[in-house]
Amino acid sequence: MQIAKDKETLQTLLNKWSGKSIGLVPTMGALHEGHLSLIEKAKSENDFVVVSIFVNPKQFNDPKDLENYPSDLEGDLKKIQDLTDCVFCPDIENVYPNDFKELRFEIDHLEGVMEGKHRQGHFQGVCNIVYILLDLVKPTRAYFGIKDYQQLAIIRHMSKVHFPKIEIVPCEIIREENGLAKSSRNLNLSKDDFEKAAIIYQNLIAARDLIRSNKSIDQVKEIVRNNFQKEKIELEYFEITHPDTLQPINSRIPRSRGFIAAYVGNVRLIDNLELIE
Ligand code: PAJ
Repeated sequence: MQIAKDKETLQTLLNKWSGKSIGLVPTMGALHEGHLSLIEKAKSENDFVVVSIFVNPKQFNDPKDLENYPSDLEGDLKKIQDLTDCVFCPDIENVYPNDFKELRFEIDHLEGVMEGKHRQGHFQGVCNIVYILLDLVKPTRAYFGIKDYQQLAIIRHMSKVHFPKIEIVPCEIIREENGLAKSSRNLNLSKDDFEKAAIIYQNLIAARDLIRSNKSIDQVKEIVRNNFQKEKIELEYFEITHPDTLQPINSRIPRSRGFIAAYVGNVRLIDNLELIE
């Protein structure tokens, strides 16, 4: 496994791989089995794999969240040394030099809801770093988790406009035994809160069952909100949306998904599930 700490070193390496297929897996580190599943998929579908590890300050709307974001580069490198060909782990100045001009992406139609609504500027920040990575690596395929479904939809859109040849590959959500979606942020949960956080996935499953038993969208929303209230867990939002437009629905549209953001302790967690077949 080669380690490139700056764009220039990465470019030299990429030049050697010209003509080969390359899979890119962008991450912010604190790697867990969710990340590893993306890397394994990338490895099985490409000649070479590049994993980027970079905690992107531009996508954090809350400075405290950035400060508390877990990081363990040494541990991460050990976890993936046999899985990837290259790790790109630049410092902030290498990615965003002083003269860096922030790009503005046309994603308004996808960012006005859920994560985009509650985290102002978050997706512009995500698009900036993903654009830089796609432009630099020019991968054959880039891998993103369905865990961050809205992010995946926005990156798909951005990539279609700017990098139409790159295939964006969606990857299944990997979960803990109690159903909680794996996340770097889970490291900040106490043991007790880790168990409590199972409420998120349990309610997505419950919502799916309620819809199957013919409850209306409004009734399902009401029941889920009450479940969180009863357990005294702060539900930031529960939305049921169209799978492509991400707009809230009030009738049964196939492939529509449920999305939850909730605070357990002071850790903000998100998850989603297809509710309608
Ligand atoms: P990060 O949260 O580190 O996630 C990196 C990738 O792993 C994302 O595509 C995310 O959806 C995926 N992932 C996270 N948890 C997962 C799980 N439990 N199962 C499957 N996939 C999972 O998402 C980001 O970083 C950043 O926004 C990034 C795209 C790297 C841009 O900075």
